[in-house]
Amino acid sequence: MPNFVEIRPRELKPALRELDGISRTTIDAHYRLYQGYVAKRNEILGRIEQVDLSAANQVYSEIRALKVDLSFAIGGIKNHEIYFEHLGGEGGDPIGAFRSLVDRDFGSADEWQADLRATGMAGRGWAWTAFDWDEGRLFNYVGDAQNTFPIWNATPLVALDVYEHAYFLDYQTDRSAYIDAFFRNLDWSVVNGWIAAYRIPAV
Ligand SMILES: [Fe+2]
Repeated sequence: MPNFVEIRPRELKPALRELDGISRTTIDAHYRLYQGYVAKRNEILGRIEQVDLSAANQVYSEIRALKVDLSFAIGGIKNHEIYFEHLGGEGGDPIGAFRSLVDRDFGSADEWQADLRATGMAGRGWAWTAFDWDEGRLFNYVGDAQNTFPIWNATPLVALDVYEHAYFLDYQTDRSAYIDAFFRNLDWSVVNGWIAAYRIPAV
């Protein structure tokens, strides 16, 4: 009897295939990568059920390899579920509760966007705007891979994928142009819905 539940990929919202500046071909290929993370998460958890726990070793062991790569698979799932869910909107400046948090913690929408853009240009995989529950504020964090460098007790609200698979078909190496398109397609109602659902304190 396995002690984990297999999960299935979330459906892709139809609006994701009609984005402004991020092609349907890119989204379809990107979604297949996400499906792959879900499949590997399920596969790894199944294999952990069978592993010899007494052979655990920090240099190399099966349990170590499985658990390290499980973090990559789970990161790939969570990151992409945020990414796909909050695209498909009209973009523009943030509105509502997220805007209030941005104004308080970054000074203005422009300063938040400039900082997230720079974080995305500096990252090798991701840039996230997250609410840190210990500090009680937003910050833009950088990630180099699916499993680096999340911060404990922080809730991501914006997830900017800067892996080349997110933009190379549409923009080749022009990541900055892709980031422009990302901002044009954000759905602020989704982000504000998360703020309400997670009960992030409003300003
Ligand atoms: Fe991605």
